Amino acid sequence: MTNTEIAAQDHAEGLKQDARKAGARVGLTSDEIIINGGRPLTGRIEVRGAKNLATKAMVAALLGQTPSVLRNVPNISDVRVVAGLLALHGVLITRGEDPGEWRLDPSNVERAHHADIDAHAGSSRIPILFCGPLLHRLGEAFIPDLGGCRIGDRPIDFHLDALRKFGAIVEKLPSGISLSAPNGLTGANIELPYPSVGATEQVLLTSVLAEGQTELRNAAIEPEIIDLICILQKMGAIITVEPNRVIFIEGVKELRGYDHAAIFDRNEAASWAAAALATKGDVFVGGAQQEEMMTFLNVFRKVGGDFDVHDDGIRFWHPGGALKPVTIETDVHPGFMTDWQQPLVVALTQAEGVSTIHETVYENRFGFTDALNEMGANIVVYKDGLADEARRVKRREFEQAAVITGPTPLTGSDIEVPDLRGGFSHLIAALTASGQTKVTNLGIISRGYENFIEKLRLLGADFVFEG
Ligand code: EPZ
Repeated sequence: MTNTEIAAQDHAEGLKQDARKAGARVGLTSDEIIINGGRPLTGRIEVRGAKNLATKAMVAALLGQTPSVLRNVPNISDVRVVAGLLALHGVLITRGEDPGEWRLDPSNVERAHHADIDAHAGSSRIPILFCGPLLHRLGEAFIPDLGGCRIGDRPIDFHLDALRKFGAIVEKLPSGISLSAPNGLTGANIELPYPSVGATEQVLLTSVLAEGQTELRNAAIEPEIIDLICILQKMGAIITVEPNRVIFIEGVKELRGYDHAAIFDRNEAASWAAAALATKGDVFVGGAQQEEMMTFLNVFRKVGGDFDVHDDGIRFWHPGGALKPVTIETDVHPGFMTDWQQPLVVALTQAEGVSTIHETVYENRFGFTDALNEMGANIVVYKDGLADEARRVKRREFEQAAVITGPTPLTGSDIEVPDLRGGFSHLIAALTASGQTKVTNLGIISRGYENFIEKLRLLGADFVFEG
């Protein structure tokens, strides 16, 4: 074996260990499940707060002079990673009577050892968002090498460029990145090269306490970002969201704690909706709301699924008849989210005709289709994206497209979960397939799906899980 192959194997083993630890943290005692597919999922499950808001809201608590209370927090391992990092920095975290209620007291924020931060961050990318708040509180911050899902290179250049504009000094070390702000941070004019979710959050979390005004152009405006802005406003921040992706922030001297219920997880909701469609089932997703899912709902209907919007959730079902193919381009909000494509692809393997999915957000997000092909799907991934002058966001070099020809019956196989959303799509494929499928490396799914084994049980799935 060459050194590169050994390094790749070590890396893969490291990711598996991270996944196992992630599963253990949220009470998964086994890393594999055996699914007997071919049964429609039916029943009701609840989704709670969004992973991609709750984790950021927890970081925002660092900015307050008084404790914050976050409600509707999901029991997922990414939340626990952030809680651990906050605890390392002296934040006192207590849980309320309701298991989804967390109280975060930042009265005694302190420095943490680099090695501890590194050991604790695991595969999470959230540590980068600690930069602004820690620079304000302590005058320095450290970010370990960042992980996250294996969906291609995930650079942090937008984050570092923005932090430099606020006046931070950025130093690259072998173990990570060290930042300091000896002269404090001042407001800046920033235009993002792309409406990045994380970089927009970075600017928000840094600008609210920076001296003077910040103008952010080409900002991301995902619902989770608007919810973060609501939290910051509750804390005392002054933030104006203008048309055309412009956000103005007027820095204030001090912020207080917040009390907030996290917005629902629209990615989890869309995943269960896709599972209902692929398995010809009928699933009521409690907590799901229409406005944040409008784009998904349109596509769900075009494919041939049906839904009913209720005050307390959305019912998704397969009304019978053939599913129809679609052409989709993933996009920033309000477009079709990149996190929705993987679960939907499984349903598209059952549609009559050729569907195309153009992935424009990440460079390597179709790896999960290999396992679907082994199960009988006909999916061809093209490494080049599609050119279209009419696009809102300019085409980038690394885009990919997947062409799915259906319908193709799926049959059981052995699958190893590669990443969070791809992993959930493998669960859907196993539930759709005839015969038995063994899915391993389940811990990764616990990063973003609360109690998914229990939810599968509630929906009548037939499986063996020794947990
Ligand atoms: C967030 O990732 C989410 N993660 C992702 O969720 C989600 O897919 C993504 O936003 C898009 O909606 C969290 O919120 C924790 P980006 P983020 O910055 O913030 C490039 C899930 O499964 N880029 O909007 O990291 C980047 O490489 C996931 O829940 C740079 O080039 O996404 C990507 O191509 C995974 N330089 C694009 O921008 C940078 O400095 C969008 O990334 C930053 C980003």
